[in-house]
Amino acid sequence: MIDRSMELTKNISFRLATMDDIHNLHYIESRSFSAPWPEEAFYNDIAHNRFASYVFIEVDDVQAGYCGVWIILDEAHITNIVILPEFRGRKLGEKLLCKMMCLAKDAGAKTMTLEVRVSNHIAKSLYKKLGFQEGGIRRGYYSDNKEDALVMWVNL
Ligand SMILES: CC(C)(COP(=O)(O)OP(=O)(O)OC[C@H]1O[C@@H](n2cnc3c(N)ncnc32)[C@H](O)[C@@H]1OP(=O)(O)O)[C@@H](O)C(=O)NCCC(=O)NCCS
Repeated sequence: MIDRSMELTKNISFRLATMDDIHNLHYIESRSFSAPWPEEAFYNDIAHNRFASYVFIEVDDVQAGYCGVWIILDEAHITNIVILPEFRGRKLGEKLLCKMMCLAKDAGAKTMTLEVRVSNHIAKSLYKKLGFQEGGIRRGYYSDNKEDALVMWVNL
């Protein structure tokens, strides 16, 4: 039987975000979070942070999601990963995170870390599927509701 998720996602590509993409990054972010990063945060990272990279996953040239990473020496840190609601459940988040792991490894990173809300079971499931392990807890890490963050990490 044909895997429907494969059928729906055959024309997939990845593209590095540039200054021209700041509005689109913020659009994807604001579709998923009640307290999205402001456009200035994306601007500062792309314009001034040489450690930061943002990558889009595109389906038939439509931006379906993005992931941000800071690579500092041998450690990569995922700042965020988001797939637009209408594109979820098609293995795009998994493909995007796999791509980021490959890019980070190629850039010399040996480990990858991230923080995730303790209540975000879907994201935690994705990370566990790709080999991330649970590290410590950062108490009250999220400023909107003071939720704890779970730190997760993986060897690349
Ligand atoms: C987390 C997110 C990026 C996953 O993207 P996605 O493209 O829908 O996920 P995929 O289709 O690639 O699924 C990969 C794995 O994620 C997990 N997953 C995805 N959707 C799930 C669901 N509804 N319930 C439980 N686990 C789920 C599963 O482990 C899945 O693997 P499986 O299909 O073999 O079970 C997406 O849900 C999203 O953008 N969420 C909002 C933003 C967010 O919370 N980002 C993380 C911040 S730390």
